[in-house]
Amino acid sequence: MVNAFGKLFSALALVSLAAQQPPAPANLGPDANGNPRRRAVKTGHVSNYDESKVPPYSLPDPLVLANGKPVRDARTWTKERRPELIRTYEAEIFGRTPLRTPKVAWRVTETDPSARHGTAVMKRIAGTIGDGPGAPQIHVTLYTPANASTRVPVILLMNFGGDGAPVAEPPVADDIIARGWGYAVAGYQDVQPDRINAFDRGVIGATNARPPAADEWGTIGAWAWGVSRIIDYFDTDHSVDPKRIALHGHSRLGKTALWASALDDRIAAVYASCSGEMGAALSRRDWGETVDDMAQNFPYWFAGAFQKWSGRWNEMPVDAHMLIALSAPRPVFITGGTADQWADPVGEFLAEVAAGPVYRLLGRKDLGTSTLPQLDTPLVAGDLGWYYHTGPHAATPEDWHVFLQFVEKYFR
Ligand code: GCU
Repeated sequence: MVNAFGKLFSALALVSLAAQQPPAPANLGPDANGNPRRRAVKTGHVSNYDESKVPPYSLPDPLVLANGKPVRDARTWTKERRPELIRTYEAEIFGRTPLRTPKVAWRVTETDPSARHGTAVMKRIAGTIGDGPGAPQIHVTLYTPANASTRVPVILLMNFGGDGAPVAEPPVADDIIARGWGYAVAGYQDVQPDRINAFDRGVIGATNARPPAADEWGTIGAWAWGVSRIIDYFDTDHSVDPKRIALHGHSRLGKTALWASALDDRIAAVYASCSGEMGAALSRRDWGETVDDMAQNFPYWFAGAFQKWSGRWNEMPVDAHMLIALSAPRPVFITGGTADQWADPVGEFLAEVAAGPVYRLLGRKDLGTSTLPQLDTPLVAGDLGWYYHTGPHAATPEDWHVFLQFVEKYFR
């Protein structure tokens, strides 16, 4: 078992390391500690890894409306501030999902009642996006405990892979099933290819007869849309409890998981692993990857409008604490790795701290501290969870164990 975990883990680490290398034209090579250093072409900004060189910044207040009015109660958050922040994220960052997207037709293509050595029922499910010629298909594999007598909680992993490439399983699959829960894996590129100039493909191609407008979705928006369509399927599957669906994504898919959860409150819990810049890490904190790098290297992940924030992070109307808070009061678990300074784990922690007031306003528990805990020490007592592992840009088996501990309170 340990060996199988080890193998899976190294496979995951390899996949994520390969995905981590941006095609940066100004790659200055690693610093003395092995952190990637890049010069952003437009602004000349070079990656910083020195706390004494982080310029001071102040975060926009999640509990003040754009018109200056303070948000003093849960109702004002839910009815006014939250929708305002969603609209801002749509207009300025991830883009708006078009109102009319193609229908997805789901069908179960294969069932194995004694998968995973007889412990699980495995179903393969395919969702055809629209009905055009060569319509893209989303492939989901769902495992639920063989001995389940009622609907079970399910952890959905929107993972690397898809579009023909294999999709990794969680390193804690046996543990999930033994706890009486299910899990499902899908490959993000089934929904939308992860490359520039592929807007004529995937769901974006099936929706728009033209490239997206400046305030319309990029690929992160498309991947998030795919998550919601998979949940549509879960809603119809009697083995899944639609009230207890958690979503996991790593890195670019951690950013996706946070955005998907902001848009779809059927997601009962989120686990964003090493999501970094434009995920859980504060953009205003100049550490590792910046908005300048992101806009330059991965423009197609975002709305066209995102480009204007290159070099102007301090003027953005939003920051990562707000993206996290858009899931409130639902639980959010965030991780970072010491060898992944590109993703600014400390900036993720600080964003999570700054999301705390929204959780408290809604009667939930924040992180419980604003001091970074020791490495490899879980913070899982509240509705915001944190784990900073010693190690790489990966969702490690240890991270997963801590997540299961965290989500247990909601899955009981
Ligand atoms: C690149 C990118 C990150 C992203 C990562 C990944 O490193 O700069 O923002 O999270 O790829 O998705 O693995």
